[in-house]
Amino acid sequence: MDLQAFLTALDELTKQASGDFAAAGDSEALEAARVQYLGARSGRLKDVQKQMGALPKEAKREGGMSFNACKTKVQAALEEATERLGSGGATVSDSAIDPTLPGTKLHIGRTHPITQTIEHLKDIMGRLGFSVVEGPEVEDTWHNFIALNIPEDHPARDPLDNFYLTVAGKAVVDASASEARLLRSQTSTVQIRVMENTPPPVRIISLGRVYRPDPPDATHFPMFHQMEGLWIDTSVNMAQLKSVLRLFATSYLGSDVSIRFRPSFFPFTEPSVEADFYWNGSWVEFGGAGMVDPNVLKAVGYDPEEVTGFAFGLGVERLCMGRHNVTDIRDLYRNDLRFLHQF
Ligand code: PHE
Repeated sequence: MDLQAFLTALDELTKQASGDFAAAGDSEALEAARVQYLGARSGRLKDVQKQMGALPKEAKREGGMSFNACKTKVQAALEEATERLGSGGATVSDSAIDPTLPGTKLHIGRTHPITQTIEHLKDIMGRLGFSVVEGPEVEDTWHNFIALNIPEDHPARDPLDNFYLTVAGKAVVDASASEARLLRSQTSTVQIRVMENTPPPVRIISLGRVYRPDPPDATHFPMFHQMEGLWIDTSVNMAQLKSVLRLFATSYLGSDVSIRFRPSFFPFTEPSVEADFYWNGSWVEFGGAGMVDPNVLKAVGYDPEEVTGFAFGLGVERLCMGRHNVTDIRDLYRNDLRFLHQF
């Protein structure tokens, strides 16, 4: 090949490449053109470069310089085209976004308000010396009822008020049968499990889900959370129970919150109270409590002559709603991000 033919080929290539780059309408077309001319293996520039080897010796220098000049021009044409198409590949006027607008904040996931509440409650009770224990959500009748002094004919055991499970594929028709299993209706089950396995003194809380077949409304949901508390020692009394609940409620709801105790009844405590806090112009019950009934102490093998204790069971949702001014419990379980992002 002679020098003249080589230089002509370079000129031709420069023109064609610049024309094709300028004509590319989008980044895909431009990329195809880039590969065609500047592709590292089989680009046309590479082909011409190989022809340089066939030039006569005295023409090599000029041929090489001309080749470099051609390559620079082709690369410049490519850069110009790239700039014209914009870095995203589309021209700014084609783009669906307005790059002059300020950015939007990235939404980062966070813990659910109930989980946040549970952590907060554990923290407060931890400072009062209560340690955290867990218990199963599927329970037997011993832990959910019998050991808690709830007799067989008690309405709390009604199959219509509990989620009894099928055992080995069979629905349990006799709710008093010892093999009956149910989703626990209260966290008081954990009191029994702890006392069965630990000698006194005991000072625990247990937080978790409980289940009752209540139709959902603003204050009821078939699954909710309770915080159970239990303090057993040689001389625990009712005054301490009231102090602990009062301290707890003011720590969580604020020192200006009003609390009252009403006499009540639970099979597993005697005497029993219900605790209310004042919220939005009315009293809201946030839990039940009382001195552990001697029958319960006996059921777990404790001696009621030796130890006494108190227990309480508080509604976690009620507390969370009071603190955050949530007026419908169902909002906590709708998974509506507009709601959840506020916590
Ligand atoms: N388990 C009772 C309930 O669910 C609450 C409670 C717990 C009452 C402990 C007294 C003592 O309503």
